[in-house]
Parts: sequence; structure tokens; C-alpha cells
Amino acid sequence: MNYKIALVRGDGIGPEIIDSAVKVLDRIGKKFGHQFMYTDVLAGGCAIDATGEPLPEQSVETCLKSDSVMLGAVGGPKWDTLPGHLRPERALLGLRSAMKLYANIRPAVLYDALVSECPLRTSIAKEGIDLIVVRELTGGIYYGERGRGEGPMGRDAFDTERYSVTEIERIGRIAFEMAMKRRKKLTSIDKANVLESSRLWRETMHELKKEYPEVEYSDMLVDNAAMQLVRRPSQFDVVVTSNMFGDILSDEASMITGSIGLLPSASLGASKLGMYEPIHGSAPDIAGKGIANPIATILSAAMMLRFSFDLEAEAKCIDDAVSEVLRSGARTADIMGDSKAKALSTDEMTALILNRL
Ligand code: IPM
Ligand code: MG
Repeated sequence: MNYKIALVRGDGIGPEIIDSAVKVLDRIGKKFGHQFMYTDVLAGGCAIDATGEPLPEQSVETCLKSDSVMLGAVGGPKWDTLPGHLRPERALLGLRSAMKLYANIRPAVLYDALVSECPLRTSIAKEGIDLIVVRELTGGIYYGERGRGEGPMGRDAFDTERYSVTEIERIGRIAFEMAMKRRKKLTSIDKANVLESSRLWRETMHELKKEYPEVEYSDMLVDNAAMQLVRRPSQFDVVVTSNMFGDILSDEASMITGSIGLLPSASLGASKLGMYEPIHGSAPDIAGKGIANPIATILSAAMMLRFSFDLEAEAKCIDDAVSEVLRSGARTADIMGDSKAKALSTDEMTALILNRL
């Protein structure tokens, strides 16, 4: 089969890690008889430099015409002082919204080989971490009405959290379906003791759970969830939550697995077109040095094969290669811990993974 993939290399370490993912995809293509065709797309800080805007119309069109999109990372200190609508992050929000990617899937897995990297007590780490954050991605306060004005206490600003039953239902369904394929446990996280939007969220989830009697469902308040994630992460299987809560909790979930450099993500909508990216950012401090960990991006490519192209065997081949390489003791600088071994470069780590494919 032939697949058209739009590549948003972006800023910082983005181009380096996308290179690694492309090498892995090409090897998989050879091995399984597929052809991946790539088109480069400008978005983020590099797009601001080249065109004056973070997400040129042409870039959106190319992504919409592709079978799938892979993104490295966008942003950096160079563009931090630009006004809100011209920041590189707008490219990300713009792409999610234009492609209608309402579901963000962020798995957080603690590899056996990396238990020593987990910042939690060893007894907690040993219980394991294998959870998925399902984050609503195109609604809520990140997209709600916002503005500035004059209030009773002077100059003020506001952002709005607003959710429709339709938005809650469709993200809830993705989470329930995902739980059915795993350990059949779903935790819905909200702030229903305070927020009206959370009360509607909870009511809607309760309606939905009637359709999935096999799933062990529970509600959890977001403050408690933030605490439970570090107290006993093994209690979680699939977690579903709003855009902002998911943004915050997925960073927390990634940290407890030892390295943000390992975690992939998928952003999905109603069609097979998805966007796949590492959950880490553009890491400007190490950009251009060739030392970034390519694993999160390589695993994102595996998620793309699985979710957008239904190529499960191919995806598993990549997942297994990464696990084996980590088990063999290979480490990039970010996951060195106390190891005395030499830290591998991006290219060296990529080569080891290619060897195992
Ligand atoms: C993420 C990022 C983005 C988000 C930013 C860069 C807009 O933090 O993907 O989690 O908040 O969604
Ligand atoms: Mg975030």
C-alpha cells in the first residue's frame, strides 16, 4: 500500500527526531512492502520566520490532503515574546482544530528496564505504570471565548470553559472503547464539585457508561487525581478528561515514567486522518547537537501505523524493537540515570532500533 504522510518538522530538535522516525518508517516499508511518501509542511516558529505566520493556509491544506501527519515539535525562546495569535503554539492549536482532532491519546508506560528512572518510591514504581490519558483536544477553555476588559476591580481578562454533550459523548466513547481493549477500567476526571461544565461532563459520562457495562467506571476530582497519580499510579488504566486538565495531567503522567523523551501521542478525530507527535517539546537547549532521544517520535510513528493505517503487526514490530533496545541497556543522555555507560547520540539510538526491525 501507498501512504501520504505530511511531515511537520518544526523547531528545535523537531527536524532531528523526525529524521529518525522517517528512517524507521522506510525500514518498515521495505520489510512489509509499503511505500510511505512524505511532504514537508511549514508550521511553528520556522513558518513565522519564512512567511510571517505560524500556520500558513497552504500547510493546513497539505495536512488535510494527506493520509496522516507527523509532527516533531514547535516553539522556542526566539518567538516567545510575540503576541498570542502569532506564537508558534497557534500552529498546533490551529492544526488540531482544522483537522478536527478532538481526541488526544497519551500513553504513559514505565518500562521494566527503566524502573530506576521513575522518580517515585521504588515500592510504587515496582507496581508498574501503564495508563493512557485520553484528553479532549478541540474544546473547552483552550478554544472558548476569551478577552480583556474593565471589571469591578479594574483591568481584567477572561477565558471560558464550555462543553457540549456532543463533545463529551464523542471523547467519552473513544475512552470507553479504549478501555474495552485494555484492562477495562476507566476513570473520568473533572471538577464537578465546582464547575457546571464538569457536572454536565459527569452526567454525560454516566449516560454513556450504561452502554459499556463491562467497564469498571469511576469519577475522580482533578485535584485528587493529581495526587493519586503520584501516590499509586498503578490504579489507573484509561483516564478521560477535558482539554486543560488533560494537558496538565499528561505532563504529570509522563514525568513519573522517567523520561518525557520516551512518550508518544496520537491526535484523532472522526476519520482515519490523525496527527502523531512526541509529547515533549522542541528542547531548544539541545537542538542541533544530535543528542535528542528519538524514541518518543519513533513510537509516535508506530501509533500512526496502528491508528491511521490499521497496520498492527508493523506497529508492534517497532514497539518491540524499542523495548528490546532499552532492555539491552542502550541509553540516550536523558535516560542515563546513574548508568556509567556512554550516552548514545540520536543517530546511534536510531541505528540500534533499525537493527532490531
Ligand atoms: C501539549 C502542549 C500544547 C497544549 C501547547 C504547546 C499549546 O502543551 O500538547 O500538551 O497545551 O496542548
Ligand atoms: Mg502540554
